[in-house]
Parts: sequence; C-alpha cells; structure tokens
Amino acid sequence: MIWPGIIEAYREFMPVSKRTPVVTLQEGGTPLIPAPRLAAEIGADIQLYLKFDGTNPTGSFKDRGMTLAISKAKEKGAEAVICASTGNTSASAAAYSAQAGLKAYVLIPKGKIALGKLAQAMIHKATILQIDGNFDTALTLVKAVADKYPITLVNSINPYRLEGQKSGAFEVCDQLKGSPLHHFLPVGNAGNITAYWMGYKEYYKRGIITSLPKMLGFQAAGAAPIVLGRVVEHPKTIATAIRIGNPASWKQAVAAAAESKGQIDLVTDEEITSAYQMIAGLEGIFCEPASAAGIAGVIKLNRSGYFKSGDSVVCTLTGHGLKDADFSMGISQKPQSINGEFEDLVKALGF
Ligand code: F0G
Repeated sequence: MIWPGIIEAYREFMPVSKRTPVVTLQEGGTPLIPAPRLAAEIGADIQLYLKFDGTNPTGSFKDRGMTLAISKAKEKGAEAVICASTGNTSASAAAYSAQAGLKAYVLIPKGKIALGKLAQAMIHKATILQIDGNFDTALTLVKAVADKYPITLVNSINPYRLEGQKSGAFEVCDQLKGSPLHHFLPVGNAGNITAYWMGYKEYYKRGIITSLPKMLGFQAAGAAPIVLGRVVEHPKTIATAIRIGNPASWKQAVAAAAESKGQIDLVTDEEITSAYQMIAGLEGIFCEPASAAGIAGVIKLNRSGYFKSGDSVVCTLTGHGLKDADFSMGISQKPQSINGEFEDLVKALGF
C-alpha cells in the first residue's frame, strides 16, 4: 500500500469531510526504530524506541499538523497563511502552501533559526520577515494580525495543527500494537506534547489501546518556563527550535503531564548535545539538537532510577539533523586532508 498521508490514514479521527481539499505531501508513516545500543550505553534495561519524525517530507513533525491546517484553510477559501516560527513551522507552512497555491508569510527571530530551515522557507517562496526579537514576540505579532486581517494563522494555536499532530500517537500505538509505558519528547511551544496526549486519549476511548502512557516533556534549561513556573523573557539554548519563553499550549502541556502522571522537566545544553551525539553515533539517526532533549530526558530519569526493568519507552525525534548542519559540524571531527596517493591513504587508514 502507498502511504496516503495522515488525513487519509486516520480520516475517521480527523475533522474533515468529503468537501475538504486534502493538501498532502504524504507526511506521517514515520519509522519507530528500536534503539538497543543507546539503551545499553546508558545502562537502561528498557525497550527503547525512537519515533523518527525527521523523516517527514519537510524533515519535521510539523508536517502532520500542517497538512490539516492548510487543507482546512483552503476549504474555507483562505488565500494566505501566516506563522511565527523557530524554523520548522515556517518550512512546513511554506511547503504545504506551495502545494495549495496559498501565499505564506513567516515571522522569525533574526539570526536564531537553523540555516536549513531558512533555506526551506525561501525555496518554497514564503515571504520571510525577520524580527529583532524572539519567537514569543513573533507569535504575539502574528496572532494580532490574524485577529484583524483576512489571513489564517497556522501556528499550533490553530486547533487543526494539533488534530493532525495527534496522528503521531496513533502511529506509535499501531506500530507497537499497544501503548508504550512512557512517551518522551522535547517541549517548546508545548503543542506536540498536547497533541500526543490527545491522540493517546482518543485511541484509549475507542478501545484501540487499553492503557495510557506517561507523558514526559523536556525543555532546555535556558528556556524552561513551564518547569520554572514563570515566563522566561530572554530564552537561551543551542536547541534553537525550542528557544521559547512563553509557550502557547502551556496549560495543556501541564495538564497532559499531570493527567498522565508524567512530568515536564529540563535538561541542559550539555546534556542535549551529548544525547544528540549518542543518537547519531550509536543508532545511526541524525536528529536536530532540540529533538535530542527527549533522549537527554531519558538519560536523566534513568540515572535517578525512574524506570523498571523492561519498560517500553518511546521518544519522538522531532526533526532532521540536516536542518542544522552548522551545529553538527561545529562539534564533529573535521575531515583529514591527504595527498591523492595510495601510500598516503594506506597510512591514514592505519595499515
Ligand atoms: N522539536 C523541534 C524540532 C521543533 O521544531 C519544535 C518546535 C519542538 C521540538 C517543540 O515542539 O513547540 O510543539 O512543543 N518548533 C516550533 C517551530 C516552535 O516554530 O518550528 P512544540
């Protein structure tokens, strides 16, 4: 079967009708990859799986929500969409708008988004406006504009975004043939943890799964408003995707953690970087820095004796590492230069 994208794959759970024009790049259907080497390396006796959403068409989980948000915008006759973004939302909005024939406007914090994401928004012909301010300011601005003018907001406060993103939870349950015990993921604007929890609860209500996972969200230490319980005016982290000081779905994320008996915690940039390198080096998966916050969380909780032997643990890797190659290059071994001679090659190989 050809994977049809999340709207068709989960149509009965999606707020669409026959009249909805489905705008899709066949997003979703992403792999759930066992990570036994990583689990062994950190000394965790758990069944660890990585839901690699970096394999989506634009390289992040945002596509799951964007297919629905853009389809619904088109259905109601919108001509233009707008979003604030730390990069991935803008890349996804630009791509789906291109297919839908809509104009896309994106507001980004100047100099604070990864190059690959900017390249994506540019090649898909979004109008890109950068501000000397952070994501939170950008989101406040686009909300105000969308309230007043005929332009559809496609940030995750648009309910269709979360309705689409909940498909991540459906897929995990379909792939595992049940719910995991623990679901880890990074938290920025707090939409994805909210969406996953919605998805798990819907499957539970329908009797497709018989238990619910604990939701475990991780913020970067320099951008951890939910953990600190206050807005962070000047969020700071190398994980630019989650450099957010006042998340839109703050309350919903707290509720997801509380209802599921999970938690929202923080990890340092050092812990994120180390997890990022381990995922790449031990499992062959290149995710972006923000995505590694979930695994940094697994490592942190494992150290404190959180897991029981054999626990099933899923961690969503939200975006692809190629989006931020600058960061990976900065911390990786540099290529060696050798003369183009057989002898030099042999020597370099250590023979
Ligand atoms: N991981 C990546 C790679 C992201 O791009 C984001 C958010 C998150 C995690 C956090 O997800 O916001 O639902 O809690 N990126 C948004 C953007 C803010 O503009 O691309 P969240």
